[in-house]
Amino acid sequence: PNNRGDHTNSKSIPLKSVAVIGGGTMGRGIAMAFCMAEFETILVELNDQLEITYAREKSFKRLKDSKIEKLRKNLQITTDFQKLQNCDLVGSSKYDVPCYEQVQIVEAVFEEMKLKKELFTKLDGICKTSCIFGTNTSSLDLDDMSSVLQNPTKVVGIHFFNPANLIKMVEVIYGSHTSSEAVATAFEACRAIKKLPILVGNCPAFVFNRLLGVYLNQSQKLMYEYGYLPHQVDKIVTSFGFLMGPLTVADMNGLDVMEKLKSENGWPASDFEKEVWTQKRYGRKRDAINFLLYPMMNEGLLCIEEGIIDHE
Ligand code: NAI
Repeated sequence: PNNRGDHTNSKSIPLKSVAVIGGGTMGRGIAMAFCMAEFETILVELNDQLEITYAREKSFKRLKDSKIEKLRKNLQITTDFQKLQNCDLVGSSKYDVPCYEQVQIVEAVFEEMKLKKELFTKLDGICKTSCIFGTNTSSLDLDDMSSVLQNPTKVVGIHFFNPANLIKMVEVIYGSHTSSEAVATAFEACRAIKKLPILVGNCPAFVFNRLLGVYLNQSQKLMYEYGYLPHQVDKIVTSFGFLMGPLTVADMNGLDVMEKLKSENGWPASDFEKEVWTQKRYGRKRDAINFLLYPMMNEGLLCIEEGIIDHE
């Protein structure tokens, strides 16, 4: 879409606290990024996942003392959505800008339209009208997602990349109804946590994942038609200056993300992809080892291992 001019001169809503819904691969990194920038951050998870989220929080303890202190001070993990309603009671004098007493939501639950719509419907009944709803969706249609809200103008895409506390780029996505204020607030939030926000229109898979899809398709061709090994393909790409190769990215992000992306958009999948999806072998994302590796990656201590597609 080329109506981006509408969004260039808007005022953002000053942010005080942030709620992240879903503490999985992305949610925990997003929550961490906000905590490090001294936002009061509420991470909401499902009951049966809470223990895992706590385990992840425990693994945070390998971080430097100053980072742990910020997490302890700023992060609250809960299953209680009602906490979002009272968020303005969490006193803060950290910002000397006038604050509307409001929370910004970034949802990072599973990539399912039905679930995200149910979540937004629920939040609409709980949160204040001024609250901006950000979605971390990788590919879903913002217009469809926001259609359940009384005021669809407050939905904006804030698409982080994994690991969200490290990767600088964030796609800020505007749908047909997204207000300029919501876009400006998303930009402001990204800047406050030292990210590089990029304005993107509402189209299938947005920008980066479209590119990643092409890289992955070609990487698989190299592997299955020409006998390259995954780490060899990635090495070629990183030799050109990319931070990570496409296969490492897919492995870390979870092959389920690409599965959703391709099936949602009707993009063709290779035999290899169909095979691993059927077996639900989603790469290191779903692996217990993730909990051990992740804190080290946060610290930049761990070089991503080369060419791991699965390690089950
Ligand atoms: P994940 O499966 O690792 O985590 C999702 C979390 O949401 C789980 O911990 C789950 O318990 C929680 N959850 C589900 N329903 C919930 C509810 N109603 N209330 C509270 N929590 C709930 O998923 P992941 O990979 O973190 O993806 C989340 C979103 O971020 C998806 O929309 C995905 O497309 C997007 N995304 C994923 C990226 C990746 O690299 N994995 C990159 C960028 C975006």
